[in-house]
Amino acid sequence: MKEILQGKVKTVYDTEDAENVLIEFHDKVTAGNGRKVDFPEGKGEVCCQISSILFEKIAKVGVKTHYLGVDGNKMSCKRVDIVPIEVVCRNLAAGSIVRETPFEEGISFHPPLVEFYLKDDAKNDPLLTLDRVRLMKYNPYDYIGITQLINVTLKSIFDEMDIDLVDFKLEFGHTSSGDLVVADELSPDSMRLWKKGTKESFDKDLFRKEKGDIVRAYKYILQQLKEFS
Ligand code: TMP
Repeated sequence: MKEILQGKVKTVYDTEDAENVLIEFHDKVTAGNGRKVDFPEGKGEVCCQISSILFEKIAKVGVKTHYLGVDGNKMSCKRVDIVPIEVVCRNLAAGSIVRETPFEEGISFHPPLVEFYLKDDAKNDPLLTLDRVRLMKYNPYDYIGITQLINVTLKSIFDEMDIDLVDFKLEFGHTSSGDLVVADELSPDSMRLWKKGTKESFDKDLFRKEKGDIVRAYKYILQQLKEFS
């Protein structure tokens, strides 16, 4: 298979169909912009499987996604041109917003915050203003409504599992026909999940803060998603 793109924990390959790609999820985790790395066995497959379930869930409420199918740690997807903006939605304060603003960890946001970050590791993914997004020739309101719908959908799924959806990051892309679709992944690598009413993490913070076994936590989330499907 011809490699198109090597990400930090995933590789994108060409397929026979020029409209599609294959994304392989590796047994690898990174944090701090690649400065901290580990290779936990089974991590690629569990992230891929969680993503596939969540892509199917959001498709059911009408969100267009790049997702086509899954096999083990490989996801078949539509080929897209990635929008160089990461959209973060926050229900509860954690991570960078706690480090960089007066909001204390765990406070809730009503309505949830929708934020834009430049997708550029070399620049450390800085926070963008709406004007900067517009200057980059993207309309922020194309993304805000979809993000809010995904938030409501995922929050209700995790609520049933007694999990608080703290925050998550989305990536978007345009297909060859010009459709705007949700791309990349939807897994505990790109969201924060706390046991309801507590700050017990079932996400990549376990690795960032060296507080536990991410594969065990991610497998718990996968098993719960299957149970509540
Ligand atoms: P933050 O607290 O670092 O701003 O992250 C907010 C959420 O977005 C958190 O769930 C992690 C996720 N995220 C990514 O997955 N990739 C990124 O590059 C960034 C900046 C955040």
